[in-house]
Amino acid sequence: MKQRIVAGNWKMNTLMHEASRLVEEVQQEVDARVIPSHIDIVVCPPFPWISDTAVRLSGNHGTHGSKKASVIRCGAQDCHHEVFGAFTGDVSAPMLVDVGCRDVIVGHSERRQFHGETNELIARKITAALRAGLRPIVCIGESSDERARGRTTEVVSEQIDELITYAGAEALNASVVAYEPLWAIGTGVAATTGQAQEVHALIRSRLTAHGAPDTPILYGGSVNATNAADYFACSEIDGALVGGAALSSTTFLAIINAACTAWSE
Ligand code: 13P
Repeated sequence: MKQRIVAGNWKMNTLMHEASRLVEEVQQEVDARVIPSHIDIVVCPPFPWISDTAVRLSGNHGTHGSKKASVIRCGAQDCHHEVFGAFTGDVSAPMLVDVGCRDVIVGHSERRQFHGETNELIARKITAALRAGLRPIVCIGESSDERARGRTTEVVSEQIDELITYAGAEALNASVVAYEPLWAIGTGVAATTGQAQEVHALIRSRLTAHGAPDTPILYGGSVNATNAADYFACSEIDGALVGGAALSSTTFLAIINAACTAWSE
């Protein structure tokens, strides 16, 4: 059975008490039901809250002994490509594993845009993440200008090809790819299911041609409680990477419910 994933990227949002409450609310609902093992639920808090979040999800939080571990996985929003060293302000993949992370987002467009990350650097992060035992969630996608100029296919193909050149097909096959068109991120202007399907099919064929046929492909960009089910009904879409709607337990839970309904068997 294909692996499906609903991941929440909290970005640089929440104070600690908000983060704790958010994960608790999601955890309470999710763990009260049976989530099929082929559906992964991931939350990616800011770095300072990862340890607390991971402990809560492990069931070891509080003074009343050990509770049941949650099915929810803790992830991070980035990692450095080196293991240790003089890289002030950075966090390495083994550190993330040490505090309980299982997934890490790499190459988010906000990292590409504000931190100048290239496909070559992102590929090194993929390698570092896999070496440490993390599953990379690798983001790609075109800008509104690139789409308007009819360059979507070219841009997305180049991203996939370069990542494979630098990290190798095996690494991509062990990763998750998230297609996040920049114009849909945080704008409320989500890609239509047709637009998403078209690019996902391109990504799938590109990955398969390179020898990475198993990679789940998520859609990200203004996914919400209302449109999630439409994406999950698409054959080429294996889940969602959710930003703003993951900051409310109500909307994130609605998206998780949509996934469970779409992929119940
Ligand atoms: P929004 O869901 O807020 O559009 O953000 C998407 C995103 O960037 C997730 O990584």
